[in-house]
Amino acid sequence: MLAWVVASFALQSALQLAFAPEAVGAISVSRFRGRNAKIAPKVFIIDMFDSEGDAWNGIPEFNVLEHNITIPGFSSLFPQAHCTKDGSICQLVTGEAEINAASTITALVHSPVFDLKETYFFIAGIAGISPKVGTLGSATFAQFAVQVALQFEFDAREKPANFSTGYVPQGSTSPDEFPQSLYGTEVFAVNDNLRQLAIKMAKTGKLFDDAPSQAYRANYANNSAFAAGAAPPSVVACDTATSDVFWTGDLLGAAFENTTKLFTNGSATYCTTQQEDNATLEALLRGALTGLVDFARVIVMRTASDFDRPFDGQSPAANLFDSGDPGFEISIQNIAAAGVPVVTGIVKEWTSTFKKGIKPTSYIGDIFGTLGGTPSFGPGSIFGGKKAPTKRSLRRRGVRSVVRSV
Ligand SMILES: *[C@@H]1O[C@H](CO)[C@@H](O)[C@H](O)[C@H]1NC(C)=O
Ligand SMILES: *[C@@H]1O[C@H](CO)[C@@H](O)[C@H](O)[C@H]1NC(C)=O
Ligand SMILES: *[C@@H]1O[C@H](CO)[C@@H](O)[C@H](O)[C@H]1NC(C)=O
Ligand SMILES: *[C@@H]1O[C@H](CO)[C@@H](O)[C@H](O)[C@H]1NC(C)=O
Ligand SMILES: *[C@@H]1O[C@H](CO)[C@@H](O)[C@H](O)[C@H]1NC(C)=O
Ligand SMILES: *[C@@H]1O[C@H](CO)[C@@H](O)[C@H](O)[C@H]1NC(C)=O
Repeated sequence: MLAWVVASFALQSALQLAFAPEAVGAISVSRFRGRNAKIAPKVFIIDMFDSEGDAWNGIPEFNVLEHNITIPGFSSLFPQAHCTKDGSICQLVTGEAEINAASTITALVHSPVFDLKETYFFIAGIAGISPKVGTLGSATFAQFAVQVALQFEFDAREKPANFSTGYVPQGSTSPDEFPQSLYGTEVFAVNDNLRQLAIKMAKTGKLFDDAPSQAYRANYANNSAFAAGAAPPSVVACDTATSDVFWTGDLLGAAFENTTKLFTNGSATYCTTQQEDNATLEALLRGALTGLVDFARVIVMRTASDFDRPFDGQSPAANLFDSGDPGFEISIQNIAAAGVPVVTGIVKEWTSTFKKGIKPTSYIGDIFGTLGGTPSFGPGSIFGGKKAPTKRSLRRRGVRSVVRSV
């Protein structure tokens, strides 16, 4: 912090010099590095598209538009990282879906501009939500992220008649059989102790609600399974499902609820639906493997903008196409309502609590056990409980590989 203040003036001109749009390149970056003044944010906010990013602008607590820094490898639509003047809080927009999320976060993790070893990564986006667990405007915090569509898929019109869904785990021959072939990104677990602290801080914020959301959620009130969907928005601990495909409807909702349980051996509660989190987590996990980031410092928050399935009597198409997106506005507002207390809480209690980290007491990492330890889901560590070696590629045994072409 002190070093930052001292370096601030020099840094500001270095930033302008090195990261003027026309000066992004190897020479500028190495000149910047030569000054040995990396930005070490306490919190890095990760958004996925422009409205989520805009949620942080114009708030009284902090201003992430004080420094704009072009980072090679970011999306062409969102080429810059945004930071407060003191560098303690930064924010970026990845672009949507898994490829954009993985690419941008990989570029961030390996950028010479930042020192991210002590940084808290705060995924803060909107999502669909299951009316069984939450409602429009709810702010959810996940422990597990499941890549639910990483499966075989039949069009439902051609699936075997006795299958409950057209999705079948890879390498398996029925929808309820644990995947026999794993790619490693199927499930991530983040630090639950940190999640509980984040939930406590988020609860000090006041969530927005509005009349269009209230009117829409009232439709869910006559089905007791959807009681949470009919109730006012709140802060909820529940897990998130990632897919490039924006799925919708009762059957896919139920199928991916089942997949979430299956892939996590019953640990996760499916509630939100989004298109990026496992990709972001994979890029962070790879950074953690070489010590560039600390995977125990990841928070996954999603505020709900829409329901993943219709209310009774409504068609899935009407829920997707004709609802008028009543929850969108409060979901964006609630990113800041729930998220600002998390960000300012981490910064305020940095010295007393967060600098040294929040020790996880349950497994964190992926389904392979890449960071060491034994996953509470999947077939167990493929690295014998140790951290993955970084010197050779390890061929996995005992799993049937699934190869698309060749
Ligand atoms: C940073 O970029 C935003 C637009 O994304 C702009 O409004 C703001 O003024 C810029 N900040 C600086 C310091 O140039
Ligand atoms: C579906 O039927 C086939 C053929 O009878 C059987 O082998 C398979 O186990 C069944 N699968 C499920 C999921 O019931
Ligand atoms: C996605 O990430 C979540 C952690 O947020 C994890 O629980 C889940 O298993 C991951 N899914 C896949 C398919 O990687
Ligand atoms: C529940 O309410 C919706 C409209 O709000 C209606 O279409 C549906 O028929 C109702 N279902 C039952 C079981 O009453
Ligand atoms: C989900 O799993 C339950 C219990 O195994 C099963 O009855 C149901 O058909 C499954 N739903 C879908 C859509 O796969
Ligand atoms: C998870 O379930 C699979 C399939 O039943 C099983 O092979 C695996 O051992 C289970 N993992 C854990 C950690 O219980």
